[in-house]
Amino acid sequence: MLKVYLPKFYQLLEEHLGITLDESKQYLIESRLLPIIESSDFDSVLSLIKYLTQNDIGALHWKVFELLITNETSFFRDKHVFDGIKDVLIPKIIKDNQASKTIRIWNAAVSSGQEAYSVAMLISEFFPELRDWKITIHGTDVSRAMLDKAKAGIYTAHEVNRGIDKFFKDKYFSLDSGGNYLINQPIKEMTTFTLLNLISEWSMPEKYDLVMLRNVLIYFNHKTQVSVLDKVTNYIDSNHGALVVGASEILPNTNSLVRSNLGGTFYYRPI
Ligand SMILES: C[S@@+](CC[C@H](N)C(=O)[O-])C[C@H]1O[C@@H](n2cnc3c(N)ncnc32)[C@H](O)[C@@H]1O
Repeated sequence: MLKVYLPKFYQLLEEHLGITLDESKQYLIESRLLPIIESSDFDSVLSLIKYLTQNDIGALHWKVFELLITNETSFFRDKHVFDGIKDVLIPKIIKDNQASKTIRIWNAAVSSGQEAYSVAMLISEFFPELRDWKITIHGTDVSRAMLDKAKAGIYTAHEVNRGIDKFFKDKYFSLDSGGNYLINQPIKEMTTFTLLNLISEWSMPEKYDLVMLRNVLIYFNHKTQVSVLDKVTNYIDSNHGALVVGASEILPNTNSLVRSNLGGTFYYRPI
């Protein structure tokens, strides 16, 4: 019976989140939505999905959508990409921005914040000469739950151990009484986190020297990928700005971006 309502539900998911699921993901829907059933008046995943497909989009829809999003992330995920940012992209930005003494980074689809904090730690550790510069790392995501976690900057030992070595752990985190790691205040102050659904109407307040859009386009269909990329490209500084995507992602062809090597992976510049 669930199968009857799934096509319409998939359509809602694609329309509002851009994410494409297919019939083979029924098990994922059932397992991820069980917690809602246990704490609601719905007696089954079927009745929940039926309700969602027959009612206007509201808070419950978004609660369900968030449970179906893949939020996988880690500190310094694909370390060679961060090496490329450190060795190639940041030095170039520093050279070009000597007059303004600013670095503006947009971390789209930031998930629970590890990516943004990785860049903040990288800049703080390897570029001490930027102490009097204004550095802003703006993280955005469609998931309120992930943004809340990013803003809190509190991570379990398991999350920190995935990507952070002892030196960085000692220098940039403090341990709370529950055994969780708190990101240090100066690193936190380099970041802001706000809600942004890449497939809805949106605008950003400024153009960025570096845009990170990693491991999110893969969930979108080709048409959505191209339209998101076109919009994102408008916010990359046209003189020297760069776009970094996931280490194994190859962008669809667009007329507005050119690809360059970045230590085993690629970055893109607006033409
Ligand atoms: C797999 S995680 C990648 C996180 C991080 N960029 C990384 O590479 O480690 C994908 C992220 O994209 C976000 N996302 C999915 N659809 C989105 C949309 N339509 N707009 C903005 N963010 C979205 C999810 O909430 C999730 O946090």
